[in-house]
Amino acid sequence: MTGRYSLILILICLFAGQAFSQPDNTSKKVDALLAKMTLEEKIGQLNQYNGDWAATGPVTDDLRDKMKLISEGKIGSMLNINGVEKTRAFQEAAMKSRLKIPLLFGQDVIHGYHVTFPIPLAEAASWDMEAIEKSARVAAREAASGGIHWTFAPMVDIARDPRWGRVMEGAGEDPYLGSHIARARVRGFQGKGLGDLEAVMACAKHFAAYGAAIGGRDYNSVDMSLRTLWEFYLPPFKAALDAGVSTFMTSFNDLNGTPATANNYLMRDILKDKWKFKGFVVSDWGSVGEMIKHGYVKDNAEAAEAALNSGTDMDMESSSYVNHLARLVKEKKVSQENIDDAVRRILRKKFEMGLFDDPFRYSNADREKKTLNHPDHLEASRDMARKSIVLLKNERNILPLSKDLKSIALIGPLAKAEKDMKGFWTVELGQKNDVVTLHSGMQKQAGKTSLLYAEGCAINDTSKAGFAEALKVAASADVIVMAMGEAHDMTGEAKSKANIHLPGVQEELIKAVMATGKPVVVLLMSGRPMVFNWTADNVPAILYTWWLGSEGGNAIADVLFGKYNPAGKLPMTFPRSEGQIPIYYNYLNTGRPSMGDNDLFYRSAYIDLPNTPQYNFGHGLSYTSFKYSNLKLSKDSMGTRDKITVTFDLQNTGKYTGEEVVQLYIRDLVSQPVRPVKELKDFRKLSLKPGESRTLTFTLDASKLAFYNDELKQITQEGEFKLMIGSSSKDIRLDKSFFLTK
Ligand code: GLC
Repeated sequence: MTGRYSLILILICLFAGQAFSQPDNTSKKVDALLAKMTLEEKIGQLNQYNGDWAATGPVTDDLRDKMKLISEGKIGSMLNINGVEKTRAFQEAAMKSRLKIPLLFGQDVIHGYHVTFPIPLAEAASWDMEAIEKSARVAAREAASGGIHWTFAPMVDIARDPRWGRVMEGAGEDPYLGSHIARARVRGFQGKGLGDLEAVMACAKHFAAYGAAIGGRDYNSVDMSLRTLWEFYLPPFKAALDAGVSTFMTSFNDLNGTPATANNYLMRDILKDKWKFKGFVVSDWGSVGEMIKHGYVKDNAEAAEAALNSGTDMDMESSSYVNHLARLVKEKKVSQENIDDAVRRILRKKFEMGLFDDPFRYSNADREKKTLNHPDHLEASRDMARKSIVLLKNERNILPLSKDLKSIALIGPLAKAEKDMKGFWTVELGQKNDVVTLHSGMQKQAGKTSLLYAEGCAINDTSKAGFAEALKVAASADVIVMAMGEAHDMTGEAKSKANIHLPGVQEELIKAVMATGKPVVVLLMSGRPMVFNWTADNVPAILYTWWLGSEGGNAIADVLFGKYNPAGKLPMTFPRSEGQIPIYYNYLNTGRPSMGDNDLFYRSAYIDLPNTPQYNFGHGLSYTSFKYSNLKLSKDSMGTRDKITVTFDLQNTGKYTGEEVVQLYIRDLVSQPVRPVKELKDFRKLSLKPGESRTLTFTLDASKLAFYNDELKQITQEGEFKLMIGSSSKDIRLDKSFFLTK
């Protein structure tokens, strides 16, 4: 290359390098502000306190005058302060501080703010990314109008244990589905991007592996191989990060003996170094100080040192940072660089949110009034709720209910449920009668059919006093619909259960009503997979309706009366017994495989229970039926840089228009280390009219066949694979082999 060209090339590289290394405008503003800050003011930015209205964790005996501390620049963020009036008042206190650094207001907007949406696990059952994104978008719009800058969501913890109450907050057991949902939720919450008045910062939590708490006991230890961590528990976090999530939250658990809140491997090696995360990390409630109880540190000073140095930027509620970091810096146990890095990350978000331009831009009373509970939000909630419902069973096509019925008996403790219909993790703003109960939803759509009602029994006690009334009502009805399940506080944080059976005497009531010989439909409302074997085996029609939120009653009525054909698919495996847990679809085959073999001798199986689950991951029926045919692969082998095009035909062979979620699984037949018997690698949700047929196309490339080896490198190994196309992880309709070559 001539000298002139090489000179030009050098100049281009220098310029490009310069351009990349030039701090952007926001960084310059952050650095300029940082330069003015005292050490105390910097530490104040790392401190987050709870408002006094709703503690979402153990409340410390607390005489702190938070308004005064804010005006002294000793608090950088508050949580559980919502509403324009309150947020404005606290922000005014921040404007009295020397540098007038605005507060960030955080809130658990987990499934809606004013309008409540279905719980996240229910939304996951929709497999509908557009609807899930829209749900988060509406929640963000309402929360932002209420002065909230930041939601502590999405919770992206993979969960294989329904004894763990927090399964209701996530997306279930599968990393592929969970990653798609993580992206959809981050997009929904952050919308057009920080700075847009309808965007809130999202928060990927709880980092990491919190869902693998031993025994399903909340806050319990997690012990797993790093390969399992990378293979199953990290992908949804990486997906959230790739979608631009602004913050992460640490988890309460220790991971292999090191609490996540001081886990250098998680926060520095993986999150900030390998993944280049530029946002900030907040500890979960008090988890910095809780490392004393873990036995990881001896006091709050050591806790502050360990957490800050490991990459936890903000301390929620433990006061460890604000009480000890200044001295730790003077003692050179915490570097000024680490403090400045944490402060920069937080200030950057405040600039990006436009809070330095106008600290009150989210606290506008007119906007709040116009936005909350908007009819469009209610319609979005109803649509999401319908899509979340899973039809588990529908023998003799009892459903949808005919409009010609003379009478329907609605029986059960959740028939008129309001708060229980909303579930756990709702934002209580004093909304008045903001739930459409099942009873009222059915009443509105029953037409000439008369709707009888009896409670039958309570959610969770032993009394059968209501049975007689229920049976009387059942006797005079053509069809019985039973609304059964859990109270809103039986699943959620700190709600792990050793017994996940249908509570109280509910299943006895179902048996008694079934004995009438009338057609029975059972609706199960819950935040988790429950065990209800007798019902599953004997009741002809069962809908899993989770906790569906503000529009639950309308959505269930839409499905019962056939206005909407259910298409939900389970995002978690449903066990027959707690004794089977953990049970999930992507298990390893073992040398003595247990599934589906009658000979239990020398099998990895229980001798007192079938080893199969009650319902499989991906299971869900429709009022119509679908035929899968004509599976073709563009070739039967591919190299690692190659791809295979997969096509097959799907036809609606029933009499209702319906949606199907077709699922694509693979199995790597021989690999080292061994691979699961099935791995979800793609899915598609589509609607077909009766008789309509569609040819679907998927692409398989090496990225869908990759896995982590013992050195935690993502690799592929050549050999034979099985491709499976199914309506669930069990209901495989088509399969073919193909080969991966070098
Ligand atoms: C809670 C939860 C966390 C939540 C936080 C703030 O304890 O673990 O998910 O975001 O505290 O409410």
